[in-house]
Amino acid sequence: MTKSFITFEGPEGSGKTSVIKEVEAVLKAQNIDVIVTREPGGVALSERIRSLLLDFVDEKMDARTEAMLFAASRRQHVVEVIRPALEAGKVVLCDRYIDSSLAYQGVARDLGIEEVYALNLFAIEDLIPDLTVFIDVKPEVGLSRVRSNQRNMDRLDLETLEFHQKVYEGYLQLAELEPDRIKVINGEQAIEDVSKDALKEIMK
Ligand code: TMP
Repeated sequence: MTKSFITFEGPEGSGKTSVIKEVEAVLKAQNIDVIVTREPGGVALSERIRSLLLDFVDEKMDARTEAMLFAASRRQHVVEVIRPALEAGKVVLCDRYIDSSLAYQGVARDLGIEEVYALNLFAIEDLIPDLTVFIDVKPEVGLSRVRSNQRNMDRLDLETLEFHQKVYEGYLQLAELEPDRIKVINGEQAIEDVSKDALKEIMK
């Protein structure tokens, strides 16, 4: 398998989706066979798990239940979409993956990075991304973007600022642990510049 599994991570409102679209367009213009997908979701079963995870704002969900549902959704996505695409020689651009679970459930929900990593290894086996682009946006900035976009707030968007600060610190911790895989780019500049920086990392 070539090195072509690229994931994008960041706090709420980091602009990941726009950056991924731009990267996809540039790669396609170079005749690179690329697919874009997202987590939680990407296939029918995983999209149904996404709605269990994000839509029910009034129901309490246990942190371990949450971590297992994210991992279950990831498993189906790996089996149905990511692995087949990589085996067919495609470049996969994935909006969130294992590092989201490590930052949100491992750090912000206090389940522990190692515990959540072990749970996820059961789901993904050896499918670790070749490159992860972390779009660095402080939680206050990201959340105010989400609020001003007026997109529907999901269950996790509605968590406290303290929770989102822990997510952010979790990401920085992961980037420090794996500097070769996780590249940090400044997400507080103009979106075109964020995309340029992401492309620079990918082209390397
Ligand atoms: P999105 O808003 O980027 O589509 O992501 C959905 C939400 O799910 C976001 O708040 C991050 C959260 N999430 C986790 O908590 N753990 C995970 O493993 C994944 C993939 C997402």
